[in-house]
Amino acid sequence: DESKIGVKGLVDSGVTTIPSFFHQPPENLPGPKPKNRPKLTVPVIDLSAERSTVVEEIRRSASTLGFFQIVNHSIPTTLIDSVLNGLKSFFEQPTEYKMQFYHREAGKGAAYSTNFDLYQSKAASWRDTLQVRMAPVEPDWDAVPDMCREALKEWDKAAVGLAEELMSILCQGLGVKSDRLKELSFLEARVNASHYYPRCPQPDLTVGLTAHTDPGALTVLVQNEVGGLLQVKCGDDWADVEAVPGAVVINIGDLLQMMSNDEYKSVEHRVLANPVEGARVSLAVFFNPSNREGTYGPFPEVISAEKPAVYKDFTYADYIGRFFRKELDGKTLTNFY
Ligand code: SIN
Ligand code: FE2
Repeated sequence: DESKIGVKGLVDSGVTTIPSFFHQPPENLPGPKPKNRPKLTVPVIDLSAERSTVVEEIRRSASTLGFFQIVNHSIPTTLIDSVLNGLKSFFEQPTEYKMQFYHREAGKGAAYSTNFDLYQSKAASWRDTLQVRMAPVEPDWDAVPDMCREALKEWDKAAVGLAEELMSILCQGLGVKSDRLKELSFLEARVNASHYYPRCPQPDLTVGLTAHTDPGALTVLVQNEVGGLLQVKCGDDWADVEAVPGAVVINIGDLLQMMSNDEYKSVEHRVLANPVEGARVSLAVFFNPSNREGTYGPFPEVISAEKPAVYKDFTYADYIGRFFRKELDGKTLTNFY
């Protein structure tokens, strides 16, 4: 059945038209590209520049587009390439092999699926997914595909190091103590999600991933050389996240928008259905707090008489429960509290 062979299996079976199950409603489709508009792209920031410059550039990007790419960071390009190649090789294994990992229980080794949000969505999207929860409980590594196991272990360490640095820069940009997000346990509940987007024979009828915001503090993402499919809402237009070799894409999630009292923005993004021959592969790490009963809300340092708190305090357990129940139809939760 389609949910098990994945979109990769459909492509391999030679489909030239996509099953109607994948037809997205018009409001989810990109539509024709507006003409005579300058092409918008996500800024690329050099993390090796002077610290005050980096803090300012990241603060500016986080306050506007909510997305930026960073280069000259601590993660070797060879590590990024090896983890993406390992994942690509997993997705390109025969269905019988991938079936061993087919389940929807996150937190138990690796979970392979097509459309992890299938049951909550109106229509399916053109991608397959492999999820591995890294923390607070370490995965059962024997239940992670061996072609990406070692690279994922290495990648996780590197991604945590980079996230810690970015969290401290983002805190500095708010005038908040630099290790505050770390103290609030935001490095301790991590989920890795890798998406595989093979060529879609009818890319105008579906998408790779529908528009959404991310729930956590921030997301650290890498992608292979098939760029421009991940797009970020920018006014009534969309900015492309181009493929920059060795770059890491960072975006602000709903929780950090709320904790920054709207100084930083959690912005809608989407992935177009892939029209080209080579598959796009991405790997995202979501940083959530491990302290589920802790209360979260605007940092006292960002509240003033001129800028009163826009949000009430809430527990993470309550917040993430609402997120998964899709109380706002899958859209941002920032207007709930
Ligand atoms: C995501 O938004 O969660 C990932 C998008 C991507 O594949 O780049
Ligand atoms: Fe996302």
